Amino acid sequence: MFEFAVQAQSGRARTASFTTPHGTVQTPMFMPVGTQGTVKGLSPQELSEIGSQIVLANTYHLMLRPGPELVAAHGGLPGFTAYPGPFLTDSGGFQVMSLGHMRRITEQGVTFKSHLDGSSVQLTPERSMEVQEALGADIIMAFDECPPFPAERDYIQASLERTVRWLDRCQAARTREDQALFAIVQGGIHPDLRQQSIDATLPYATPGFAIGGLAVGESKEQMFPAVAFTAERLPANKPRYLMGVGHPEDLVAGIALGVDLFDCVYPTRTGRFGYALTDDGRLNMNSSAPRSQLEPIDATCDCYACRHYTRAYLAHLLRAEEMLAPRMLSLHNLRYLHRLVERAREAVVQGRYGDWAREWGERYFKKAL
Ligand code: GUN
Ligand code: ZN
Repeated sequence: MFEFAVQAQSGRARTASFTTPHGTVQTPMFMPVGTQGTVKGLSPQELSEIGSQIVLANTYHLMLRPGPELVAAHGGLPGFTAYPGPFLTDSGGFQVMSLGHMRRITEQGVTFKSHLDGSSVQLTPERSMEVQEALGADIIMAFDECPPFPAERDYIQASLERTVRWLDRCQAARTREDQALFAIVQGGIHPDLRQQSIDATLPYATPGFAIGGLAVGESKEQMFPAVAFTAERLPANKPRYLMGVGHPEDLVAGIALGVDLFDCVYPTRTGRFGYALTDDGRLNMNSSAPRSQLEPIDATCDCYACRHYTRAYLAHLLRAEEMLAPRMLSLHNLRYLHRLVERAREAVVQGRYGDWAREWGERYFKKAL
């Protein structure tokens, strides 16, 4: 039901297809974030047009509202959202830590107060699996703990050991064969702790592995060695997912290290704030220059916004606080990341990923606006 087939390799970068019950994902791929069962402001039709192949949704938010039963009553996320392709749901622990208040972590799980109504809620490995089965994504994530940064080494160690025990409970609790459970490697930025997490996690032989615990406040100089260390120790024949990473330069670097899947709110969030991603860096559409520019955001981009609108029009919409502006900038930014991974896949097929990445970086960092 799930098949990961590597098609080409260039250095450590690779391109593959990952087949799921709701469709095949070409990797490397960026997954738009649809926390509440919608990629903010965009329709499924628009997502399909720009080349989205899989959407991420969140257990934490959807279990609190509208509740897993309502999603299940629609046959799961594809029926509920009318996005017909594959979904991936995150397991909830990470969102509890960033959004829930008064959380308490025990061996059993995490107890927290809902950010919506303050009621007390418990999330455990078993409950996370139950909710993720009701949501019905093709890829479900193990219930883990992502320690904050910085954290005491001893805490990170105890936490990664608990995450492995929780993985064990996730695997025991799940009942559906048509969902791929991905394990999550933790260990912060410490190579020996990463190794420990990898050694304890690999025997579970899940159909994919995530690199977790990163992009939580550490520097890029600290994050990338941890990505490299982890990625090269994960099985070559299974997808590797770097969680919460999605700046263009991080995709280009992550792919070079053998990462296959990424997700991040960055392209949609920065779009809502008025920023547009381009090969020449991030364009601030709130600044004065775009107000008189009669060219598109990016003449090489094939998104609806770039095919129809000038920068001046989009800057006007932003200033007028018209909702088309955040929609179009989100659409463009996602299309930018989808084109970026398309170009990366092509470079891998041509066996020139390193050269392509260097050329891309030279231009991207030359004149960031
Ligand atoms: N999103 C970003 N990082 C993480 C992580 O370490 N664990 C989970 N579950 N989600 C994440
Ligand atoms: Zn565009």
